[in-house]
Amino acid sequence: MRHLLTLEDVTSDEIRRIFALTADIKAKLQQGIREPLLPGRVMALVFEKPSLRTRVSFQAGMSHLGGSSLMLGEDVGFGKRERVDDFTRVLCEFVDVIVMRCMEHKTVEQVAEHATCSVINGLTDLAHPCQALADLYTIQERFGSLDGTKLAWVGDANNVATSLALACGRLGVEFSIASPTGHQFPSEFLDSLNEQCPTMKITVTDDPVEAVQGASAVYTDVWVSMGQESEQEQRRRDFADYQVHKKLMDTAPADALFMHCLPAKRGEEVTDEVLDGPNSVIVQQAGNRMHVQKGVLAWLLGAQG
Ligand code: CP
Ligand code: NVA
Repeated sequence: MRHLLTLEDVTSDEIRRIFALTADIKAKLQQGIREPLLPGRVMALVFEKPSLRTRVSFQAGMSHLGGSSLMLGEDVGFGKRERVDDFTRVLCEFVDVIVMRCMEHKTVEQVAEHATCSVINGLTDLAHPCQALADLYTIQERFGSLDGTKLAWVGDANNVATSLALACGRLGVEFSIASPTGHQFPSEFLDSLNEQCPTMKITVTDDPVEAVQGASAVYTDVWVSMGQESEQEQRRRDFADYQVHKKLMDTAPADALFMHCLPAKRGEEVTDEVLDGPNSVIVQQAGNRMHVQKGVLAWLLGAQG
């Protein structure tokens, strides 16, 4: 049984296959064609945190593919009414795929361990693989190819940054990251990245100006992720010099995209001027969540060819 918990679960060739499926599905949708690649298939969504993009893009996407989806609420009692293994084995009797958004990554791993259908990670504290796939697909769309591109991350080395680093490593995209002390990638993650993607070009720094040199895309995310609310004040102080503003964007190449997974905390990690500026691709990124996830679903539930 194949799952998508992190991008360690897919090879470079498999990501390229997902992108090819995505391009086909997206082009057809733009011509008004919604090919029913997954008729009658059912997706369950179990979310322990709020969501707009992930939830709606998965549900709308599954509907376009001829399947249906069930957003399971508090009433199913996930993690409360019965043991997670019992919950999972029973849910798999009814559905073909489960999308999970969990507080802790180990919860989605636990579900995958007991699942007899595919499990997709829709964000945990550790990873956000579907976001990173949609983001790399967006860069590919914008530049026509990923060859010679570089993604620069400014801010917290969080779940989104972790998945993006791995996506870049898998697809041969250069990656740089500027984060303050205490909020950088753990050395174990950098070691495993190096092991998985030995030829990857990566720069780790605490200087945003250094990180954005030669960047094709400058990416940031909130300073306080869901679940970190108690650290809010300290984090605002720690990241004060890591805002993406016009002055920083001006040190990057003139055609560098501005990217953000959203939701954004306007005026904190990014200024309105950059977020709403001509290089910002935030809406295209969000839109591509649906197209790429349709590619993921078609690949995962189809023949995986
Ligand atoms: N980017 C993203 O995952 O957004 P949501 O939290 O709204 O799903
Ligand atoms: N890092 C953010 C991403 C939200 C899509 C969070 O985990 O809250």
